[in-house]
Amino acid sequence: MKKIICMCGIVAVTGYKKALPLLINGLEKLEYRGYDSAGIAVINPDTKNIICNKAEGKLTNLLNNISNKHIHGTVGIGHTRWATHGKPEVKNAHPHIDSSGKVAVVQNGIIENYQELKDKLEKEGIRFNSDTDTEVIPHLIQKELLALNKLNLEKNGSTLLVALRNVISDLEGSYALAVLWADAPDSLVVARKQAPLIIGLGEGEFICASDTPAIANFTKIILPLEDEEIALLTPLGIEIYDSNNERQYRNPIHLHVSEQVIDKKDYKHYMLKEIYDQPDTAKYWIEKFLFKDSKTGQYQIDYPFDTEFFESIERIEIVACGTSKHAAMVGSFLLEQFSGIPTNVFYASEFRYSPPPLLPNTLTIGVTQSGETADTIAAINMEIKRRSSMSDEKYKPNLVAITNRMESSIGRQISNIIDIGAGVEIGVAATKTFFAQLLSFYGLAIKFAQIKGTQNNEIINQLISELTKLPPLIEELLEKHNKTSEKLAHDFFNIKDVIFLGRGINYPIALEGALKLKEISYIHAAGYPAGEMKHGPIALLDKKVPVISIATPGVVFDKVISNAQEAKARDSYLIGIAPECKGTEIFDYLMMIPETNEWISPLLAIVPLQLLSYHIAAHRGLDVDQPRNLAKSVTVE
Ligand code: G6P
Repeated sequence: MKKIICMCGIVAVTGYKKALPLLINGLEKLEYRGYDSAGIAVINPDTKNIICNKAEGKLTNLLNNISNKHIHGTVGIGHTRWATHGKPEVKNAHPHIDSSGKVAVVQNGIIENYQELKDKLEKEGIRFNSDTDTEVIPHLIQKELLALNKLNLEKNGSTLLVALRNVISDLEGSYALAVLWADAPDSLVVARKQAPLIIGLGEGEFICASDTPAIANFTKIILPLEDEEIALLTPLGIEIYDSNNERQYRNPIHLHVSEQVIDKKDYKHYMLKEIYDQPDTAKYWIEKFLFKDSKTGQYQIDYPFDTEFFESIERIEIVACGTSKHAAMVGSFLLEQFSGIPTNVFYASEFRYSPPPLLPNTLTIGVTQSGETADTIAAINMEIKRRSSMSDEKYKPNLVAITNRMESSIGRQISNIIDIGAGVEIGVAATKTFFAQLLSFYGLAIKFAQIKGTQNNEIINQLISELTKLPPLIEELLEKHNKTSEKLAHDFFNIKDVIFLGRGINYPIALEGALKLKEISYIHAAGYPAGEMKHGPIALLDKKVPVISIATPGVVFDKVISNAQEAKARDSYLIGIAPECKGTEIFDYLMMIPETNEWISPLLAIVPLQLLSYHIAAHRGLDVDQPRNLAKSVTVE
């Protein structure tokens, strides 16, 4: 089956104000979710027709298309698309419209049984205009509306709601949908299943979107739609129904302040701004989660779960994707080596289909900055399901989620949650959220070490004391390396391959350094545990392949330096992320980091690597914040 996978951002409005500016503002904020094409549809209040406009490529192309047009309706939908199959062409851009031109749909997600539905519709004589899965939906809705018309149902939003409910019962897969019907010109119907959709409540108007930044300029009061809910929105109010068609009533919630701030300041790109946000990220964590016990004078970690919760845990499994997986790997190192708890990290996408055998007293941690990554959420759900079915209490699910988005699916689903509080991250390549995820793991490792008694107070205090010094240390690193990495970027922007080496706690930092570089500069980069280099990657080395080695004093320092020597002997240019100390003179170029307690070295080593990747991509003139083919939030498997 040819699968059209669409991740995308959707936005929809109804009310008394002109819809177009709200749609465009929303789409601008959602462009990080995909930027292969964009489109809008608005109901013309005079003619009661749907006006639809779409363009291939970025939102700016759509803006050029509509700049001279008067689109003045108050009800509309918009979409920004990310596709992996099927070319990003205008015909595949959303909204998709049925043959009568009366029903328009935007979708985020994937309709897995679309081919079967499409074949059936085609046999009935319906002609398709796109290669997408989504297009079946407007055709199916129109078919339902015709059937409902025969029952003499009125042409209004409630009828559209019934039609969509009937249609989604035939859809398999995941989706967030927004639907317009020209015959119900005030109404908007939305639905979600395993894809996010949030309703923003204004005065006499509503805006729905895939994520809060699209809503933040409009209102601070939101109502996230729960899984499998469907809602009718008109300027007069909202009706929400669950999958059993029961009307739902619940209080709206307030958006976090951090959810509302999306300001590039004077930085050229969001990514650079977000790298520079990291001292504040550290301050936030220190202020929010570290406190000094007035009786003992001892620092404690203030995570929102009981001590008993930690006591019962004997092992940990962590599921995550992408950069979050790298943070989880550092976390796993800390939890095992510092706190003495056996810990395994899994790619969420692998865990889903080959989970480890169930063991008792296990803590499952989901790490996802967006809180929406489909594989991570599915892996967590699967674990909840298989553990909940066990009769022995020891096998029951114990869950923690680490996320940046409390309003996200994971944030609402799991009660033991660590809010990393990094503020909205717009650059597709994660930087400050990675840093904040790392800090969350330091907190967990300290908490477990205290409760299990695996480290003495002196060692714990020393680590905490080093963590409290982070904000000025990171500021210094930014100051020092912004210019040096710009200079290095000038020399290296044309390279084809880079090898990143690290060991122990810094092996995941080598992986993350390589991921950052390849994501935004499209230069091939691979991270390896330094000791593995001689088992394969060394064959790649010559003077055209630089090696970046993270060498921080500690257990494996001498070994890392020897591995770097081996690379130098093969003519590679050697860049060291290391302090200025005996051994590091071997590097052709030293990106100096201060000599600290080895445990916290990943928090320092990552900063020059982020800056270097940023400057190489910027020097190559690439779209740093929106690299090709990627999206910030991967809401399909
Ligand atoms: C995408 C992004 C990555 C991110 C990964 C996991 O691939 O491009 O930057 O690390 O998803 O995202 P999550 O929101 O689950 O941390």
